[in-house]
Amino acid sequence: MITIPFNQPPVLGTELNYLQQAMATGKLSGDGKFGRLCEQWLEMHFATPRALLTPSCTAALEMAAILLDIQAGDEVIMPSYTFVSTANAFVLRGAKIVFVDIRPDTFNMDERKIEQAITAKTKAIVPVHYAGVACEMDTIMALAERYQLWVVEDAAQGVNAFYKGRALGTIGHLGCYSFHETKNYTAGGEGGALLINAPYLIERAEIVREKGTNRSQFFRGQVDKYTWRDLGSSFLPSELQSAYLYAQLQSAEEINQRRLALWQRYHDAFAPLVAQGKIGYLTLPKDCQPNGHLFGIKLADLSRRSEFIAFLGKRGILAVFHYIPLHSSPAGQAFGRFVGEDEQTTKASESFVRLPLFFNLTDSAQNRVIQAVLDFFAQ
Ligand SMILES: Cc1ncc(COP(=O)(O)O)c(C=O)c1O
Repeated sequence: MITIPFNQPPVLGTELNYLQQAMATGKLSGDGKFGRLCEQWLEMHFATPRALLTPSCTAALEMAAILLDIQAGDEVIMPSYTFVSTANAFVLRGAKIVFVDIRPDTFNMDERKIEQAITAKTKAIVPVHYAGVACEMDTIMALAERYQLWVVEDAAQGVNAFYKGRALGTIGHLGCYSFHETKNYTAGGEGGALLINAPYLIERAEIVREKGTNRSQFFRGQVDKYTWRDLGSSFLPSELQSAYLYAQLQSAEEINQRRLALWQRYHDAFAPLVAQGKIGYLTLPKDCQPNGHLFGIKLADLSRRSEFIAFLGKRGILAVFHYIPLHSSPAGQAFGRFVGEDEQTTKASESFVRLPLFFNLTDSAQNRVIQAVLDFFAQ
């Protein structure tokens, strides 16, 4: 029986009060008091001209694809080692996905392999900040400028992490956050945000998010009626999601410090195993300020990892792996192609394993995980 889960949604204890306050306002649809408070918090803390809450990071990515006018036949470059939503959002607009290999040290898209994937059809690059550790954004932004491409950061895992002092999600033209329950801050299970770092996209982003209408301008009293203006969909979360999220954002520092402390304890505990060559670590480039989103170790291969997961399972501990490379999945083969050699992607997918790391994980539960890992390698 699993007694230490892989994840639990963060709970501070302040959420219920905000949920009750939201219910008392008599308005639960999107863009109420708590939605605005969250957006202002994100704009202020991460320095972006506009943050729009969305029902998920998936929705934020879909909004990005609409906003950038991605059309059938356009090409979008991204790693294959990512969640399906990164690709799906662009495939929904008819784009072809061009997958690039990752770096072995961070599992982020290898910035040295992007240029060979650019063609006359390329419209956008989508760096994914794996584990809340930044991609090499200076190189990526320089490439994008040279070839006149959009950059959409998939910062689903990168909330409250930084690259050269800049918040992840605020460096590209657009940035996408996730507030899913597996992420550092949650909007009550599901949630996300689109950061609009290019101010000229803000007005249209509001329209796309409001089913293609200028209802946001109407609510601000800027127009006397709202009409259908553009493509769009329903990309607003409810006030209950925003209220839950606001409680979490107000305690962002506490959550961040706890996650970083848990991450550091794992890191210190297994350092001897790394020194003995029994496991490998991801590395943290010097310009990156991380957020303790996940802790994982690299094992020798797939069968060693299966043994490891089974061993921890017998101790009641759930360890998990991800991602199945998109380029080798049926939809990835239909909608995309891999450029260059897959030297790292499949290897990472088969040998990396993640350990429980969540805000409410106690020290004693973490000690049990640490001991189980040490016991496995002492066998
Ligand atoms: C890299 C990445 N992108 C996008 C998503 C989708 O996020 P959401 O569940 O908020 O739609 C995830 C979720 O796990 C993710 O890890």
